[in-house]
Amino acid sequence: MTLTPQFLDELRARTLLSALIGRTTKLQKAGKEYRACCPFHNEKTPSFYVNDDKGFYHCFGCSAHGDAIKWLTDQRGLPFMDAVKELAQAAGMELPAMDRQSAEKAERAKGLHEVCADAASWFTDQLNGIGGAEARTILERRGIKASTAKEFALGFAPDSRGKLKDALKEYGDPLLVESGLLISVEGKDPYDRFRGRLMIPIRDPRGRTVAFGGRIIGDGEPKYLNSPETPLFDKGRTLYNLDKAAAASRKAGRVLVVEGYMDVIALAQAGFGEAVAPLGTALTEAQLERLWRLSDVPILCFDGDSAGQKAAIRAANRAMPMLGPGRSLAFVTLPQGQDPDDLVRAKGPAAFEALVQAAEPLVDRLWNHERDAEPLDTPEQKAGFKRRFTELANAIADQDVRTEYLAEFRRRFDKMYEKERKEWTPRPPFVPGKRGGPRDKWKPPVGPVTDYAKSVGATGIDRILAKAILAGLIRHPAEIARHMEVLGSLKLADEALAKLFEAVVNLAIKDANNGGALDSEGLLTILASSEFDIIAHDLLRADQLSCSFTQKDAEPQRAREDLDEAIAILVSRPEVDAALAEATATMKAHYSDTSFDWDGAFEKQVALVKEQQALDARLANLVQANEDARAFSTEGNE
Ligand code: UTP
Ligand code: MN
Repeated sequence: MTLTPQFLDELRARTLLSALIGRTTKLQKAGKEYRACCPFHNEKTPSFYVNDDKGFYHCFGCSAHGDAIKWLTDQRGLPFMDAVKELAQAAGMELPAMDRQSAEKAERAKGLHEVCADAASWFTDQLNGIGGAEARTILERRGIKASTAKEFALGFAPDSRGKLKDALKEYGDPLLVESGLLISVEGKDPYDRFRGRLMIPIRDPRGRTVAFGGRIIGDGEPKYLNSPETPLFDKGRTLYNLDKAAAASRKAGRVLVVEGYMDVIALAQAGFGEAVAPLGTALTEAQLERLWRLSDVPILCFDGDSAGQKAAIRAANRAMPMLGPGRSLAFVTLPQGQDPDDLVRAKGPAAFEALVQAAEPLVDRLWNHERDAEPLDTPEQKAGFKRRFTELANAIADQDVRTEYLAEFRRRFDKMYEKERKEWTPRPPFVPGKRGGPRDKWKPPVGPVTDYAKSVGATGIDRILAKAILAGLIRHPAEIARHMEVLGSLKLADEALAKLFEAVVNLAIKDANNGGALDSEGLLTILASSEFDIIAHDLLRADQLSCSFTQKDAEPQRAREDLDEAIAILVSRPEVDAALAEATATMKAHYSDTSFDWDGAFEKQVALVKEQQALDARLANLVQANEDARAFSTEGNE
């Protein structure tokens, strides 16, 4: 079938654009034109105009511009041909003659569409009928509202081999089998495919039901059953909810891809209408192409388990040849054992939003994956690593993007080893009293160092203090910004802890660039989905160093001051320790040297010991003061 320009002109002329657009967007008459808040971007005052005479729309805010066909492809996400068909039908125009075979095919497809539509409404009736009580209870337990069930046309297939077949018998068995609703086995009568399942209609981009997914009621195998491939349903080209998500994604400026259809439904209910899902298979090229029509950087949300992470890498690899200027992917990793459905139910939409905000760019995901894939201790291993990322980048078809990837990988590689070299350079010698800041004027406290502080000192005070500070920063993310520089230069012996510090600081930087909305809950959600899951949670347990900032109910000003003090101690401590060790070593080295300035050296050593004690005391003070404050505040309750 070929569409001539004349045919398309006629089609546009017969379409009243304002009526078409007015179906989904509220229009206001403004002189000869119509005006509305633009459906392609978020705005409060209307800058979107529709002109029926000229047959086009234009937005003065975001420059969206087009005719009736473009409206359907861009706003509704229809493929071009489907848009033309829909307009032709509305305008009462015959599409140009098709050859006989495709005419027959189209006729059969029409029958199949009707079968699917009727089946969907029959399933819905079952859900709302007496037999649907159990399925309704399950929806309720999953927190799916009745209005959501209606919006997604959820239904129920009774546990029977012939009820659907009977209800739709006028279509005849062959069509019902072709639609996938009946199973045909040699020598047996065809029977219902979906039995005892919650039914989820799968729609095409035009919103027509073309297939079904069925979730078992209760436990059983398989958990989900999908329609087989039919003339209407091509699994690898279909994305669940694409029709609704297309419009929502224009508004939200992004599209989310999740793993299951129940995730899509739960997210829509939680306010994320822009989510789609593949149908139990890995993302295909065709699906990626579809996604890129909606957004330059689709955001893929995968489970934190190894299967989910493998799927993420598979999608990343598949996307490489298809990347283009501006055209990429981003990745969200969900906390272990939680899918988006679980997460919004347990922690609310804000927690999910925080994860999406912190989505990892494709380049980072690939880099980190290759870097961590193998050890990098020997020159051969490093060369292998280089080879792997070069091959990855070389898979990119677009020359500009490929060049950028090669350069970026190269930069990261060089930086990685440059950092390693830097870490080996010895530190400059410590000069007592040189480190500035008001805290250094602090004088030793009156009281003695408490036993508590002594005992933590004996078990690696730096580590415990660092942990407490980290817990404090997670509780008070807004404070991170003020300490960014100091925290960035910290050198902690404990590698896991050092990494976590780095991660927290990086998240805060990213968040500051995004306007700084990250709260403790959001931070924890992100950490929970990372490799730091366990230690982040461990940190917030009550049994660590008792400081105001590690407590949930601390007074903010106090927590803030104490946190400053704790960080000052943490930073000074290793310096003083190192200086003392050095001073002691110097004295030892001059053991038999009579010309050595023993008095001066001794004095220096004593000064350093005093400084060390002072730091211990400051720390003890922090802990002690907090314990006092807590004892005081709980007295009234007893
Ligand atoms: P999940 O098992 O993660 O589904 O499968 P879920 O949405 O979390 O299920 P609930 O919450 O237990 O109901 C994700 C997707 O994989 C496909 C389906 O498309 C499902 O939405 N799948 C899963 C199947 O096709 N068959 C199965 O047996 C299981
Ligand atoms: Mn689930």
